[in-house]
Amino acid sequence: MSIAEARAYNTLSEALEKHTGQTVPANRHWRIDMALKPLMRRNSVPDLQTLAALIEIDADPKLTRACVEAMVNNETSFFRDQPNFALLTGPVLDNIRDLRMDKKRLRIWSAACSTGQEAYSLAIAIAENAEKWRGWTVQILGTDVSASALAQAREGRYSQFEIQRGLPVMQMLRHFEQQGEEWVAKDSIRKMVTFTEHNMLTPVRHFGRFDVILCRNMLMYLSDEKRTHVLESIAPSLEDGGLLMLGAAETVIGQTQKFRASKEFRGFYETSQQQENAQVAKLSLTG
Ligand SMILES: C[S@@+](CC[C@H](N)C(=O)[O-])C[C@H]1O[C@@H](n2cnc3c(N)ncnc32)[C@H](O)[C@@H]1O
Repeated sequence: MSIAEARAYNTLSEALEKHTGQTVPANRHWRIDMALKPLMRRNSVPDLQTLAALIEIDADPKLTRACVEAMVNNETSFFRDQPNFALLTGPVLDNIRDLRMDKKRLRIWSAACSTGQEAYSLAIAIAENAEKWRGWTVQILGTDVSASALAQAREGRYSQFEIQRGLPVMQMLRHFEQQGEEWVAKDSIRKMVTFTEHNMLTPVRHFGRFDVILCRNMLMYLSDEKRTHVLESIAPSLEDGGLLMLGAAETVIGQTQKFRASKEFRGFYETSQQQENAQVAKLSLTG
């Protein structure tokens, strides 16, 4: 690789890190090339060095943004990490349901939701247990830094390839309708889900508090420092008794003191404050 090419990769990966916190190690720089080819063709940019020069001076903020969005890893699928997702939609939600019987309100935040499959998977799981959730207000908020991923999430429109990833055929037929080559979410699941743009590096907006926060497969691309920052900024958004769910390869351990592993649910985390409150309550009962 020439020095000019190496400089171009650095400029582009720095732009990605500046806007999203996501880092691309040097041995994965080839991904940048692959991700940006269609954008370069569309904008008649002859090579990576020219693109990097335009991004460096932020010649066109729209181009910079499109470039960042093309580089970000949007990989997702329905019911991703099936065993963990089954724990969430089974025992974890049952536990939350018992805790919230008085208000009958369930709020879930799918943070870094990409094109929405995670949020719709939750809506499907709840719709499939309609009897359990009858009379409940269910709100699922999906947020992401990528406007283009969110545009697809809002439309709830998936290609044949996307819809088949993780979604059993019977559920596909029940909750989506076919429009040409694509599949579109039906209103019955769509009504539970809303999407809005949010960068996890910025202070959490007034979303209110949640019973479950999913922040999966996004922290793994951040530096340690930014990972701690994101975890600590979302901690106050969890309701009492609420749980944080991370990706299968992610953990809070060694990242922050604000969360601890749930004793009951493997792969889920509660705030340290909650665990302390529970201990105090137990001591005052036994004392
Ligand atoms: C690999 S996808 C994971 C999607 C989904 N959570 C899952 O596990 O299937 C990572 C998502 O994180 C989003 N993302 C990256 N950096 C972000 C940031 N700073 N704030 C919000 N979203 C971010 C990306 O746009 C992308 O959609």
